Amino acid sequence: MQISSEFVTSAADARGFPRDRLAEIALIGRSNVGKSSLINALVRQQVARTSAAPGKTRLANFYRVRRGAQPAFYLVDLPGYGYARGGDAPAREFNRLTEAYFARTVPIGAVLLVDARHPGLESDLDAWAWLGTQSSARAVVGTKADKLTRAERARHTRELESVFAIPVPLVSAQTGEGLDELWKLIARL
Ligand code: GTP
Ligand code: MG
Repeated sequence: MQISSEFVTSAADARGFPRDRLAEIALIGRSNVGKSSLINALVRQQVARTSAAPGKTRLANFYRVRRGAQPAFYLVDLPGYGYARGGDAPAREFNRLTEAYFARTVPIGAVLLVDARHPGLESDLDAWAWLGTQSSARAVVGTKADKLTRAERARHTRELESVFAIPVPLVSAQTGEGLDELWKLIARL
């Protein structure tokens, strides 16, 4: 399947969001969970900057993506939550920008990324509940699946599906596992 992607813009606040009303899929999750890496893996191109240190993505970054004959849409990389260094400033930044982002009237599908090694973190459950008030089209994906043993895969998948009460596919930006399923999920949203 042919995939094309390009960086379009970074937004620090509502004035910076695109105005062409393409559909959007936003990746949400804790800092360092692998949002930017997953975007690169999905589009098979290094469009987004990643880092081993949390707090790398500080703006809302918009990538225009086309896959096969499907209509173009934006993949949106948002700053992560739960990044404490520098006091409360990053948390406030996440809230302000993320709230402004979802306050728009364009169709937004939200994918919550949770680290598959740590199912059921309170900050992830809070984010999921909050997303429920913002977007009717939401899904959960477990990241860094390559770091799990076989036994953990089964156990953590069960735990994730029990706390979120929906199927939670596991993905790996490193091995490419689960990306086809994630593309299908994105098309559904
Ligand atoms: P912020 O921008 O800080 O919110 O982080 P992020 O969620 O965008 O995370 P990022 O993609 O920058 O990845 C964080 C770290 O996790 C990097 O060191 C990545 O190489 C690593 N990482 C991301 N995805 C995977 C994965 O699927 N497997 C493994 N093993 N490591 C991963
Ligand atoms: Mg990032």
